Amino acid sequence: MNILGIETSCDETAAAVVKDGRDVLSSVVYTQIPLHQPYGGVVPEIASRAHVEKISEVVRCAIDAFRASDPDGRIDAVAVTYGPGLSPALIVGLNAAKGLALSLNVPLIGVNHIEAHLHTPFLRDPGDAPPPRPLDPVSCAPALGLAVSGGHTNWFEICSYGEYRTIGQTLDDAAGEAFDKAAKLLGLGYPGGPVVDKIAKAYFAEAGGAGRGDLVPFPQGRPREGVSALAGLPAELCVSFSGLKTALLRYVQRNPSLLDPPAPGEALLEYAPGKTVRRDVARVVASYQEAIVGAIEDRTRAALKTQRFKTLLLGGGVSLNSRLRSAMERVAREAGADLLMAKPKYCGDNAAMIAGLAYYRRAVTGEDALSLDVAPSLEAG
Ligand code: KG4
Ligand code: ZN
Repeated sequence: MNILGIETSCDETAAAVVKDGRDVLSSVVYTQIPLHQPYGGVVPEIASRAHVEKISEVVRCAIDAFRASDPDGRIDAVAVTYGPGLSPALIVGLNAAKGLALSLNVPLIGVNHIEAHLHTPFLRDPGDAPPPRPLDPVSCAPALGLAVSGGHTNWFEICSYGEYRTIGQTLDDAAGEAFDKAAKLLGLGYPGGPVVDKIAKAYFAEAGGAGRGDLVPFPQGRPREGVSALAGLPAELCVSFSGLKTALLRYVQRNPSLLDPPAPGEALLEYAPGKTVRRDVARVVASYQEAIVGAIEDRTRAALKTQRFKTLLLGGGVSLNSRLRSAMERVAREAGADLLMAKPKYCGDNAAMIAGLAYYRRAVTGEDALSLDVAPSLEAG
């Protein structure tokens, strides 16, 4: 079964065709990041307008690439992200999907964006070597799912595939948001996650073990037991990044020279070809990343102790973070669980994850398809 997926929940316009939930036949992602960069974050109006401008071309490219791989292949259903996300952005994708489903005379499948991120470890490309221990969506359960993105940080218990129960979450900012806000404060640009990751990597490569001993002791976001924001969830499985953000702000206020341009002749740290940063800024950035990764590592370790999970599924843009990936390898190994992570190209927002998960979801037709609405605050499960 070939499903055409469409994703427009935030700042990527994406379309893909996936066969039987796993085999990506085409995947096209147009990222709007350069449009939002001047504002240091996603501007909903700009996002929605750019989706309108690009959606037809992106869908056409995905269908053309699919037809090139399978000239006789047909699209059996159209899937679309209906939430969570920015309402004016979601509407563009949903309307395009409804139009396509109608014109192709196929069913429509609404997909939850967060759940779709947790499907990314199962996506494969033509020519991929088979994994050493093949686990499919059905045989991976019981699984612990960790979705870490710009909008979400959630731990889910997945006892049978497609059924998600939140067992932990952030009480305020998502991990990606925490990275983005820090980068903005330090004048490192948008999005923050990739640049923080690179700077921290360069810092540790240069400072080695000594660098670890020299980190700023930022708080690791452990909420207090009994606070109402926990909404009944255990504190040891939840994070709060707002205190960390404030701690960084205070640190910068106490050390205002961090925001100064480098002094003439100052030896800078090169973190990417031609890109440099002051060493004291790199130390703060590495410390901040360590606090976020440390918090997620600690909560994931605790979550893995709540029952005998067979697998740990990791998805979302922040799962690209190199320190987080090695931390997750560590905790999964300790717990005897298989770690399933997406390929880097499927960590960020894409439509292959939407078309893939849709295979396991209910399709609707006729009136039901036409009346599907966006759900900007949709939860998983
Ligand atoms: O999943 P995603 O593409 O979009 C949402 O659904 O939010 O995630 C985007 C987030 C951004 O906050 C970005 O800073 C973060 O993922 N991100 C990273 C890295 N690459 C992207 N965070 C940490 N380390 C990275 N290497
Ligand atoms: Zn996402």
